[in-house]
Amino acid sequence: MKTLLEKITIEVREAFQTAGYDEKFAKVTLSNRPDLCEYQCNGAMAAAKTYKKAPAMIAKDVVEALHDSACFETAEAVNPGFINLKVKKEFVTGFLNEMAEDEMLGVSKCENQRTVMIDYGGPNVAKPLHVGHLRSAIIGESIKRIIRYKGNTVIGDIHLGDWGYQMGLIITELKKRKPDLPYFDESFEGDYPKEAPFTITELEEIYPTASAYAKEHEDYREEALKATYLLQNGHRGYRAVWEHIMHVSVTDLKKNYQNLHVEFDLWKGEADAQKYIPPMVEMLKEGGYAHYDEGALVVDVQEESDKKEVPPCMILKSDGAALYDTTDLATLVEREKLYQPDEVIYVVDKRQEMHFIQVFRCAKKTGIVKEETALKFLGFGTMNGKDGKPFKTREGGVMRLENLIREINEEMYKKIMDNRTVSEEEAKRTAQIVGLAAIKYGDLSNQAGKDYIFDVDRFTSFEGNTGPYILYTIVRIKSILTKYAEDKNVLEGLRIGTAQNACEKTLMLEAAKFNDVIDTVYEETAPHKICAYIYDLANAFNKFYHETKILSEEDEQKKESYIALLVLTRKILETSIDLLGFTAPERM
Ligand code: ARG
Repeated sequence: MKTLLEKITIEVREAFQTAGYDEKFAKVTLSNRPDLCEYQCNGAMAAAKTYKKAPAMIAKDVVEALHDSACFETAEAVNPGFINLKVKKEFVTGFLNEMAEDEMLGVSKCENQRTVMIDYGGPNVAKPLHVGHLRSAIIGESIKRIIRYKGNTVIGDIHLGDWGYQMGLIITELKKRKPDLPYFDESFEGDYPKEAPFTITELEEIYPTASAYAKEHEDYREEALKATYLLQNGHRGYRAVWEHIMHVSVTDLKKNYQNLHVEFDLWKGEADAQKYIPPMVEMLKEGGYAHYDEGALVVDVQEESDKKEVPPCMILKSDGAALYDTTDLATLVEREKLYQPDEVIYVVDKRQEMHFIQVFRCAKKTGIVKEETALKFLGFGTMNGKDGKPFKTREGGVMRLENLIREINEEMYKKIMDNRTVSEEEAKRTAQIVGLAAIKYGDLSNQAGKDYIFDVDRFTSFEGNTGPYILYTIVRIKSILTKYAEDKNVLEGLRIGTAQNACEKTLMLEAAKFNDVIDTVYEETAPHKICAYIYDLANAFNKFYHETKILSEEDEQKKESYIALLVLTRKILETSIDLLGFTAPERM
């Protein structure tokens, strides 16, 4: 379905042509003076040069040609040559009814549907999840839903950090604590107990303890590095411990991500890429791409146009160990082999940008991915505390994700209990739903690349540009609709009629923007524009609500039309928050 703006533009183009001007000048935009008009066209100003005519004259000609347009209530030429447009109420109504009947609410699936992989989440197994991982999960999940909504095949991959030094540390600490376990023997033969030698609670404590100890004790660190090396080179007992760590951690991670409404299609990780490394290294050498530099195997990726230095991609350290670059390249080999994506998007902290520049260039240059495969780095900024510094606990430690979520939920619970409309039990459940919205909306309403301040008070407020405000609006609409349905037993199939007053028209015009907004959000990979849009829509609805008798309206036809508009508004809001990755409660 076309957007309202597209439909309007077609009419204005025709008018330019009828008036004898090139239609390329007929560019229409939303008005930046909503007090004067709803849409505007500044094309007459641009055309003035070509036609050596005063812009006001051109504007006047175009306006004349718009005389009996189906779209516009008024079209005005305003000095020095603006064309101010107000759309006909019937035109908007027609558009909204068309939208309401469409399963996608007017959004068209894209013409060239692609396979897109999204690499997001990226937690490190057995290390605590911290707030930095939250942003990747929130942004990646929303992007995944948006790209999927437009009809593409999207594969979300968590890309676990499951192959590093932390594994060696845990093995070393476990050996110290439980030397009698069968896993540490060089001759260990694989048939190991199914029961993990630790619980998740223990595991969560083992890693930080071992990590801190290794910083102080050289020999312990050496041992952990050796254990990492042995694990990576086929020590069967260590591999068994690794399987246990993976099982226990991933079970826990799955639960955490589920609570965040983050759903991965693939639970792959760095370990899965390892088997692609040897043949890849072979290819890089044979193809003449890689060379040795001070013992390390590297691929140069500097390009002539670079303003700053781009260091070579590191393939192998001088001791033969693989690195972060290597793993990401090998993962691309695997992705190419198994999924043939048209695009891979990485949602990672923007401080890792250089790493991705190196990897992307190397992958393209060496043919690991096809020239036409798009590799995109979506770097996000840091989540800061109110002091403008990276988010910390009150004591100054690294904020763990679960604590942050608990803090928000408690605050939400307090606020919901203050309203005292629901039972304690329900308030708890509702607090979780609204808390998640507070966190996600607080994050997503900022442009992803920017740092932002995580402000618990502001994010949990029911007023202003917040998740709870949006949910509150949805709940308000739902409650009106429920009351109406109790009485009339019907909500679907009602028609929206022409607007009765200015604030209803404003609401209608906002609702009509939906497919246009989603297209922009998709093209720019910019979920924050959904937030900006639903905030405007919620405001327009609440203004309408305060100025209009809805349920007590006596004219049945008017009332039906209001209800139909509410049904549509609710659908738009619910679809939008689903694309952002959260839901609304029944009451709050
Ligand atoms: N595990 C990494 C970290 O915590 C993020 C992984 C990002 N994805 C990737 N393909 N490198 O920093």
